[in-house]
Amino acid sequence: MVSSSARVLVTRKLPEEVEHRLAKTYQTWLNPDDHVMAEDEILESARECDGLLITSADNFRTDLMTRLPRSVRIVATFSVGYEHINLAAARKRGIAVTNTPDVLTDATADIAMLLILGAARGAAWGERMIRENRWNSWSPIWPLGHDVSGRRLGILGLGRIGQALAKRAHGFDMELHYHNRRQIDPALAQGARYHARLEDMLPLCDYLSINSASTPETRNLINAKTIDLLPDGAIIVNSARGDIIDDDALIAALKSGKLAAAGLDVFKGEPNIDLRYRELENVFLLPHLGSATLETRVAMGMRAADNLEDFFTGKPPRDLLT
Ligand code: 8YV
Repeated sequence: MVSSSARVLVTRKLPEEVEHRLAKTYQTWLNPDDHVMAEDEILESARECDGLLITSADNFRTDLMTRLPRSVRIVATFSVGYEHINLAAARKRGIAVTNTPDVLTDATADIAMLLILGAARGAAWGERMIRENRWNSWSPIWPLGHDVSGRRLGILGLGRIGQALAKRAHGFDMELHYHNRRQIDPALAQGARYHARLEDMLPLCDYLSINSASTPETRNLINAKTIDLLPDGAIIVNSARGDIIDDDALIAALKSGKLAAAGLDVFKGEPNIDLRYRELENVFLLPHLGSATLETRVAMGMRAADNLEDFFTGKPPRDLLT
């Protein structure tokens, strides 16, 4: 750990050990009550700062990057995803941007598996039965779930998290398929069969897990047309980004029975999600818990702090995106 004269604004409250490390190293502006900082507050607090440590809940897609004080030279995001950051504007301004890959792979893949199991087995419905005191007697014909073991799983985006999900799915003897823009090294594919065209994979998916980044190409990629290609009664889970799904199409398919269920940890416009999801019995909903374990959040914070430390000691940060 080095101490530095650099000044760092941390936009959200981070685990204690991370804040402790940052405060020991830099002159820090912390956010002890963890409120969401509006653009103006970020701009005001960033005055005379050299670096910003932000999260994916901070919207740096707008012209905020261009309006940052001239003193800001690095923006380190506490997330693997970086679609909330205008990288082109950062490059133009000469601002370094870093993210936190690797350290949240397992935690997020665990949540993807939880979504598959939770959606398939009606976990949310079952919990509501108990909480709402509706469990009067056991029934052989209750709304029945669906087997996971031995079924076919299609992974949209076999990157780090997709591969970690594939490893978990092997434990359930699932048959694996994947679609990426490009085929990956077969040694990394965990035995998943590659489909160059999403349209060719979809008819083979009893389960479809979304694990790709949010990009202009993946936005609304799961829509009425692509959902229609899935087998009837398929299940979709999303632990990547909400904007990859067209909500109208997903909700219509969940209502019509085209899809048996869905498991969602991420949503368009979260936390202001499409309220129609709340009315559906066949969805298993989580509030973006992908990386939400103490161990993982500490590791993410330390990774962001490593990136800042590299930068302020004149080394290229490990996770440089610009
Ligand atoms: C994080 C995520 O918890 O890292 C990401 O990209 O989606 C999450 O799991 C969140 O974004 C924290 O900033």
